[in-house]
Order: sequence, then C-alpha cells, then structure tokens
Amino acid sequence: MCGIVAYIGPKDATAFLLEGLQRLEYRGYDSAGVAVAAKGGLKVCKVKGRVADLAAAVPARFKGTTGIGHTRWATHGVPSDANAHPHTDVAERIAVVHNGIIENADQLRALLAADGVVFTSETDTEVLAHLVAAHSGEGVELEDAVRGALGQVVGTYGIAVLDSQQPDRIVVARNGSPIVLGLGEKEMFVASDVAALVRYTRQVVHLEDGELATVRADGFRTFTEDARTVTRQPSTVDWEVASYDTAGYQHYLLKEIHEQPAAVERTLSGRLDERFATAHLGGLNLDARELREIRRVKILGCGSAYYAGEMGAQLIEELARIPAHSEPASEFRYRNPVIEADTLYVAVSQSGETYDTLAAVQEIKRKGGRVLGVVNTVGSAIARECDGGIYLHAGPEISVASTKAFTSTVIAFALLALHFGRIHDLSPADGRRIVAGLKALPDQIREILEQEKEIAELAAAYADNAGMMFIGRTRGYPVAREGAQKLKEISYVHAEAYPASELKHGPLALISPELPTVALVPDDELLDKNLTTLGEIKARSGRILAVAHRTPEAKLIDHCLLVPKSEPELDPLLLNIPLQLLAYYAAVALGRDVDKPRNLAKSVTVE
Ligand code: G6P
Repeated sequence: MCGIVAYIGPKDATAFLLEGLQRLEYRGYDSAGVAVAAKGGLKVCKVKGRVADLAAAVPARFKGTTGIGHTRWATHGVPSDANAHPHTDVAERIAVVHNGIIENADQLRALLAADGVVFTSETDTEVLAHLVAAHSGEGVELEDAVRGALGQVVGTYGIAVLDSQQPDRIVVARNGSPIVLGLGEKEMFVASDVAALVRYTRQVVHLEDGELATVRADGFRTFTEDARTVTRQPSTVDWEVASYDTAGYQHYLLKEIHEQPAAVERTLSGRLDERFATAHLGGLNLDARELREIRRVKILGCGSAYYAGEMGAQLIEELARIPAHSEPASEFRYRNPVIEADTLYVAVSQSGETYDTLAAVQEIKRKGGRVLGVVNTVGSAIARECDGGIYLHAGPEISVASTKAFTSTVIAFALLALHFGRIHDLSPADGRRIVAGLKALPDQIREILEQEKEIAELAAAYADNAGMMFIGRTRGYPVAREGAQKLKEISYVHAEAYPASELKHGPLALISPELPTVALVPDDELLDKNLTTLGEIKARSGRILAVAHRTPEAKLIDHCLLVPKSEPELDPLLLNIPLQLLAYYAAVALGRDVDKPRNLAKSVTVE
C-alpha cells in the first residue's frame, strides 16, 4: 500500500522516480509526488490523481540528482494535492515520503503546533518532516536527525528522507513497511517493492524492521535505531523483468489470468511424490509425528486470501478429515482468540504484507501457537514471522484483484491436504487420484481459457444489471464468494454470494429478471439439489448463468459455461476460472480501470 521510490547518482532523478512510481502505482493511486534536492533547496511537485497526472505536472526544469517519490492510498486525509507526499518542514529543507501509519501523530502534532509549527496537510506523515527538521541542528548528520525523529514515533513506517543541505545522501528506515535498496554502478535506487527496481538492477538489499540505511551514490550503510552498524549482503532478484510487464495484454489482470497454468505448474513443481502418492513440502518445519498431533486447522487471510482459505479448509477436511475453518484475519485479531496447542494456524497472503494478517500471526505467536504461512512474496513480513510454510512461486502479481495467486494458494492447500491426508487415513488410491488430478489442472485451466471469447460476450450481456447473485453448495460456496468478490472489486456491480441451500431462507425474495444468478453446478453428489434450486429461481423469473460440468436442461438455465471435470475435491479451483474472466470482461464492458479499481489497493498495510 502506497509506493516509495528514491534515487541518488549521476543522472537526473526525476526520470527514474516517475517510471518507478508507475511500476508501483498498483499499491496506491489517489495522488503522487516527487521531490529533488537542487542548489541547496528542494523542488517538490505533487498532485491528486495518477502518476501520469504527476508526470504532466512536473516542470521541465525540475532537475536534481537526488530525489524521492511516492504514490498514495489515502489513510489520513482525503486524496488532494496538499495531502500527497512528499511532505516538507516549514523551512522546506527536509522532504519525507512514508508508507504506514504514525499512531501517535495527533500527540506529536499538538507538541509541534505548540512550538509554532503550522501544518499544511491532514496527514500523519507531515509530522515526520517537522520532527526530522527539529532534530537537524547545526552539523547534525541526517541519519542522526532521522533516528531522533523516529525515537519519538509510535507506528509503522517505510520512509525515505531527503535533506536539501545534505544532498549526497538519502536516509531510509523500515518498521513494518518494506524498503528495498537497489545497487547500481555509482548510483543507488530505493523502492518499497522490487517491481520499481528490476529494470535498473537485480542486486538488492532488503532492510529488516527496526533498521535504517544511509544511501549514497557509491554505496550504503545499514544500522539500527540505536546506531549500531549491521551488515546486509545483497541478494539477486530471481524474477525476470518481463514478469513485471503486461506482455502485450491489455491489462495485468488478463495477463495474470492467462499465467495461471504456468503458475500452477510452478506451485506444484518438485512437490508431488508419485511413489507414496503424497506431497513433499520442504518448508513446513513439522515432521509427521508433529502433524499427527494436530486436531484442528484454522486458516486466516483477508479478501481473496480468506476465500482461498475457505477452499483450503474444505480440502483439508475432505482429504485429511481434520476439522478446518477459514476466518478473516481482520476479525480474528480483534476478538481475543483462543489459541490451542493442537491447532495448526495457517496465514494466507499473496503479498505477505497485509497488516491484519500479520497482526493475527503475531497474536497467535504471542500466545504460543504455531503458524504456517501460505505466501507468494519470498522474504515478506508474514513469511518471516511464520514458523514455516509454503511459498506459492506464482510470480509477481500486479493487478489489485488476485487471480493467479488465488489459484496457486488453493493448489498449496491441496498439497498440504494431501500431505496431511496421507499421514492420516487417505488411502494410497485416493492419494494417487489427487496427484493425477493436480497434474491435469494446468491443461484443464488452458481449456477453460480457450472459452475467453464466449465468456466475454456473456459478461457484456450480464454486466448491464444493478446486481448479481452467486450461488454454490458446500464446495461451490467459496467459489461463489470469490466470484462475487471479483465482480464487485473490478466492475463495481453489486454481487452477493449465498450458499444455494440458503436461498429459500431469505434471498429468494430478491430474485427477479433484473437480478441474474451465476450458479455453480458441479457434477457431484449434490447435483440434484442444485438443479432443484435452479428450478426455484426459474419459477421466480430469474435469469441463470450456470457454470457446470454438464449443461442442465434448457428450461433450468439461460446460459451455461462448461468446465472440465477434475476430482470432486479439486473442482472448485476450475469452477472459479470462468468467473475471473466473467468479472474481467464485465469490468471492461463497463469501462472500468481494471487493474486499479477505485478505493482499493493491492497490499493493505494499514489497520
Ligand atoms: C487487498 C486486496 C485484495 C487481497 C487482499 C489480501 O484487500 O485488494 O485483492 O485479496 O488485500 O491481500 P494479500 O496480499 O494478503 O493476499
């Protein structure tokens, strides 16, 4: 959430800052700004709107070789020019960009105001600029002024600070919000996410929480908040630059939908064991004996990660016969949860940064529980906080709405459930059935994606409604929830998901020709029940788009999308794929900003 970039070197900083911000725009996109040190002073340009608006507003003579930039997702104060970062002190000597939240901003504001500081924005970040200035006495090094300021601050942050009187350096700090240094040839880059850096360097250094760095054109020094030097070795970014581009697709979302067969292959890679009909998961850090002692599984995540967790819970219950349940991490963390020694907690997060999920992990660990992470971003905060876990290896996901990470998460749960199951009572024959089912999935997803044109036409036809109902029974219900979520997120069409069995207990009252239903109708033991529900909707003049393995009778539906059959436990994953395309093409038909839906951000690193 929010993006930070910074540059120091021989070149003009602004070009990198603007390009880097564009790469980070998916993290927040309501306002953007840049600042450069120039001739003993600061130049600042910031606007409400997108990075493209900022690029248009930056004056031609906005030159400087040391600079910082930011793209924002508003927390304190509405999106506006004044609330956009960078924020400066009264003398316009210090500029700060910040991700995260300063929790004691109100108290600090009052203290600073009592000293005569006049604030120009409603943000918590502006406090930081004034505090750094207050610590910047004669001869004080910028890093010491920043340490002094952070000593007064309670909250989470990733920051980059520029001092026009010390333009040979940028000082950055991390506490709960990522900061990555990019090492160049006599130039250095900084970003909150490697996506902004990979075109310039593959050599990076990830700061740890509680660390700062002084970044100069010819290198960097990392140290702690109490000024102890720490040594950080650079690592190499392993993703190709191309995985951060749209690769000719109209949107990242469409590209990521199409990347799913390859993402699934990567998530499965090296993890299936045909001989013992099980899965190998090297990072669990739990041996078979410890796994046998687990009596329950509690899965935690937010948004699509939570829905993927619901599919995961079903897989674990079905294959391992261990009670499993998924809950929004954002709720769990606030309800003083009971932590049980024989429960395995699993935190799910694409970014590995979602604050609510991280806080849930910390709450469990504080109470002595054991947590596994199912995470896409290697080395992220949640991955580091967990006792072990499964990396998705889905590749970078840029579009705000999750698709390939969702699918890879379900695959990771299928592997976990298979592993668990084979330690418990899942038979070798059933194990083999699941292994074969998993191996067939990439091609089956390709088959669904071939129906893109047909789905696009249906999406355009169905998009023109005030709302849509999504229904599914048991295994189909999480599919309905994720399908409805996707449609809401990117098309802004109201969508409601219900268990098909619950329809007659209330929401049937909503059914009319104006509220079409997407019905998940897998060919499983509940097929007849689902067909009955379709009949009940039809009897109330409802329109139905079925997603099924076999086309139901014509009188029961208006349209049908056919999906290849997998094993019943794995079917939800495939049933979800057409719903992604449905949401995507509905959003396109309605002219929405698909990759950057209004009011949202990719990684929500605030409470
Ligand atoms: C935000 C995004 C959602 C995402 C959720 C969890 O709300 O808009 O698309 O599912 O965060 O993100 P995570 O990175 O933890 O999976």
